[in-house]
Amino acid sequence: MKIVVVGATGTIGKAIVAKLEQEHTVITASRKGADIAVDMTSIASIQAMYEQVGKIDALVIAAGAAYFGPLTGMTPEDNEQSIDGKLKGQMNLVLLGMEHVNDGGSFTLVTGIMMDDPIRQGASAAMVNGGIRAFVKSAAIELPRAIRINSVSPNVLQESWDKYADFFVGFNPVPVERVAQAFVKSVLGGQTGQNYEVY
Ligand SMILES: NC(=O)c1ccc[n+]([C@@H]2O[C@H](COP(=O)([O-])OP(=O)(O)OC[C@H]3O[C@@H](n4cnc5c(N)ncnc54)[C@H](OP(=O)(O)O)[C@@H]3O)[C@@H](O)[C@H]2O)c1
Repeated sequence: MKIVVVGATGTIGKAIVAKLEQEHTVITASRKGADIAVDMTSIASIQAMYEQVGKIDALVIAAGAAYFGPLTGMTPEDNEQSIDGKLKGQMNLVLLGMEHVNDGGSFTLVTGIMMDDPIRQGASAAMVNGGIRAFVKSAAIELPRAIRINSVSPNVLQESWDKYADFFVGFNPVPVERVAQAFVKSVLGGQTGQNYEVY
């Protein structure tokens, strides 16, 4: 399979690439330091990425910035960061990518545990996670040519615990390897319209 991983240089992305590249052709993508430079917040940049890669069998997303901050004091501009980054960024990668994915291919997006298990300062990020889950469930029944779509919802990672421990009090972080395995299940399995919870 020919697989593009957006966010391939990140904590989750690197773990996904390590698994998939053993048996597949993986093209890494991110703003810098990957095979292909793409900014998922830019429609022109997404279009340029797809023109460069041509036809693919799977598009995997392990990227998408979302705003963290107290609800009181959150501005519309703060919230736009989540919408432009993790919500529209991922949706646009699907909308602009459909014609580039081969018959029977797949999209795999990323959500997150906060939509199911709220934390303080997480309202904006939780909102986009829920939006992506709803989009995936709905898009699955309309995608043409047996193209599948799923999302993976990671718990906070053990590998990111130093950064996020103060936000996720009382959570049990999971190893990134488990999260990467859910992405593999989405890409290589037969399911569609799913949100794989790695909690
Ligand atoms: N880490 C966790 O505990 C955790 C838990 C649940 C959900 N998640 C979600 O999983 C996703 C990835 O998390 P992570 O911890 O692996 O992130 P990370 O380590 O910060 O890596 C992010 C990756 O995305 C790329 N990226 C960032 N902005 C981009 C853009 N505008 N266009 C294209 N690529 C971009 C980065 O590379 P460049 O900077 O070079 O672009 C990098 O490859 C995020 O959406 C996050 O919300 C993470």
